[in-house]
Amino acid sequence: MKIKIQRDKSIEEFEVSPSMTLLAALYEIKEDQDASLTFMAGCRASVCGTCAVRVNGKEELACAYKIKGDELVEPLQYHPVLRDLRVDKNRAKETLVKTTAWLHESKEATLTHNDEKLTEKQTDCILCDSCYSACPVYAVNPDFLGPFALTRAYRYTTDKREGDAKAIIDNIQTNGVWDCTLCGECTAVCPKGIDPKMDITMLRGTSLQFGHSDPNFATQSFGTPDFGFDPNGGF
Ligand code: SF4
Ligand code: SF4
Ligand code: FES
Repeated sequence: MKIKIQRDKSIEEFEVSPSMTLLAALYEIKEDQDASLTFMAGCRASVCGTCAVRVNGKEELACAYKIKGDELVEPLQYHPVLRDLRVDKNRAKETLVKTTAWLHESKEATLTHNDEKLTEKQTDCILCDSCYSACPVYAVNPDFLGPFALTRAYRYTTDKREGDAKAIIDNIQTNGVWDCTLCGECTAVCPKGIDPKMDITMLRGTSLQFGHSDPNFATQSFGTPDFGFDPNGGF
C-alpha cells in the first residue's frame, strides 16, 4: 500500500504495510525507509492533540486515522511548517490569549451536574488545531480569533462562577464572533465532536444581549429609494 507525503520541497511516495494507523505508518517509514521524515506525535491515543495533519484535504488525527492507500498527507494549514509534517502551533495558541477565555472575576456559585453537562463537550477540546486549519477565514484574515478559542470563550461565558462574562464578550467583537461565516468546517473536522459553529452562534446571541451588534450589518447600505418627489413633503 502506498501513501504520499508532502515534504519540504516535494511530494514523496512511500510503501507501507496495510491495516495500520497513519501514525504507525509514519513511524514505519521513519524506521525502515527515511529517518529524516519529521512529524509530531505524543499519546498515540487521540488524547494529546499533537498529531493532527491533513489527509486528502481533511484534518485528521494521524493516530486515529486508518490508512486505506493512496492518501496524500500534508501539514496543517495556516501554521508555519518547521519541517515536513511538523508545524509551529504557537500562533494558533495565541488566539486563546487574545480571546481571554478564562475566569475573569470569580464568584461563589454551586455547580450542579446539569451545569457541568452544559459545556462538557467544549471541555473535551484537546487543542489539536484541526478546526483552525479547516477554517476558511484564515485565508483572508490571519488575525481571526478562530474556532477553538471562541469555543473556549463560550465555555467560560456560561460558567456560573464567572462574575464578568461581559469582559470576555467585549474581547471577542473584533476579529471574533462576527467574522465567522458559520460554514461549519470546524465542526466537521473536530475529532472530539465539538461544535464551534454552534458555540459562535450562541456567543453572537450573548453579544447582542450585552449591547453589541453585527458590524457587517451596521455598515450595509440599502440605498435611498428615488421616489421622484420628496415623500416627506408637506408633512
Ligand atoms: S464556522 Fe466559523 S469558525 Fe468554523 S470554520 Fe467556518 S468560519 Fe471558521
Ligand atoms: S475544537 Fe476540536 S478540532 Fe478544534 S482544537 Fe479542539 S478538539 Fe481540535
Ligand atoms: S498522538 Fe496524541 S492525539 Fe494523536
